[in-house]
Amino acid sequence: MRSFMLPVFALLSFAIAQENEALKYIQYDTDVITPAEYKTRRDSVMKMIGSDAAAVFYSAPERMRNGDVDYLYRQSDNFYYLTGFTEPNSILILSPKGIRVKVTDTTTVTSNEILFVQSKNPMAEAWTGRRYGTEGGMKLIGVQLAVVNEKFKSVFQQTLFSGIKYLYVQSITSDVSGTLKDLLSPVQLYIDNAKRNNSKLELRDPNAMVHTMRIIKSKQEIDMLRKATEISAIAHQQAMASVEPGMFEYELQALYEYAFQRQGAEYYGYPCINGAAENSVILHYNSNRKKINNGDIVLSDCAAEYRGYSSDVTRSYPANGKFTKEQKEIYQIVLNAQKAAIAVMKPGANWSDVSAAADSVIANGLFALGITKQKEGISFKKFYNHGLGHAVGLNVHDVGQPTLAAGMLYTVEPGIYIPEKADGVDAKYFNIGVRIEDVLLVSETGSENLSAAAPREINDIETMMKKKGIGNQPLK
Ligand code: GLY
Ligand code: MN
Repeated sequence: MRSFMLPVFALLSFAIAQENEALKYIQYDTDVITPAEYKTRRDSVMKMIGSDAAAVFYSAPERMRNGDVDYLYRQSDNFYYLTGFTEPNSILILSPKGIRVKVTDTTTVTSNEILFVQSKNPMAEAWTGRRYGTEGGMKLIGVQLAVVNEKFKSVFQQTLFSGIKYLYVQSITSDVSGTLKDLLSPVQLYIDNAKRNNSKLELRDPNAMVHTMRIIKSKQEIDMLRKATEISAIAHQQAMASVEPGMFEYELQALYEYAFQRQGAEYYGYPCINGAAENSVILHYNSNRKKINNGDIVLSDCAAEYRGYSSDVTRSYPANGKFTKEQKEIYQIVLNAQKAAIAVMKPGANWSDVSAAADSVIANGLFALGITKQKEGISFKKFYNHGLGHAVGLNVHDVGQPTLAAGMLYTVEPGIYIPEKADGVDAKYFNIGVRIEDVLLVSETGSENLSAAAPREINDIETMMKKKGIGNQPLK
């Protein structure tokens, strides 16, 4: 008996060891949102669509940069929100009723969530990295059933005939190409037929539902956004301590990106905006090629993305460490506007009221300086040509709603931008662009500023700028 049991056990543990070996090098980050939370989200979707429906979600397309080079891959927000899965060419089917899937010639299982993944392929993996495969999909991502993409067509067709009335599926966008397009061709065919009224099922949009779920952040999501924002705030401290006249805007950009990645962020949430003087007045300036001169104000709108969650923080500071009188005047109006807006933030407050609080400070402030000739009306908008802020989350401009609620995260980012030769404006104010942007978490009673570690009072900025930062060190 013993001599029989031993080899079987040894064989089994060898197989398990091999399997675990293959999964060992796929996920290195440990501070991630738990598979259980993703599961809860998928369960919520199933509850919302009901038992006479199924939903199909698919991954973001890969995008070619040029030749053999792709842009760095980033998962689609909604697909990631439901799975935490970062691989391309993957599809999720949710079916509250359950779908029977033949997983091997002899085994059939019924599952109400099926993740279709790229099959393991040692040759491809040698070039582009290890794949989760079906084992990884189930053991690391935690979906009930993961199967290879090759099975998608037949399972999708089974889904259509599983006695449902509604199919939630997003239309296939024009940027879907290559492998994903081929993979999704049965879906495209079905949508095309449905357009010709040839469908027994009603097609519905799955995205709106997931967007609604994403408005109020969970505790784990707040932790991620808190981390992304803290990382960004430290980067702003370093930038203030490092910048000096003679540096180039791209050196500041490099410093921010270094500080993000140095702290474990995988990416920036959006391309860094580092505009000095005439570039500080361009809202989404990001060529970042100019030499920063003595007397320039520098507007840096840079923030990290951490585990897919993006922060968004802007600071404006004088290149030489000391604000001029005019820079101070403009800066103080923007800061007062931001504080007035933040004071209004609490559950139940309307975003238009929060915005109006900032508008009023800016309108009065610009009029008092003689930059606008009317206190009333919208002439201040010429110098503050954007909204007050937006939600942050998996997208830097995330889904929000007009009425604030605890667990929402919003940026508050008023600004004043006075370009050269602005009509009727004293030349001493030319080329001053100031935006102050913080990430606010709406709490039960008001709000918490998650980016408070990045100095924003004039004195605090000037004090920080007296320090030396990591960017002052010459490379050679
Ligand atoms: N940080 C860029 C923006 O909010 O538009
Ligand atoms: Mn923003």
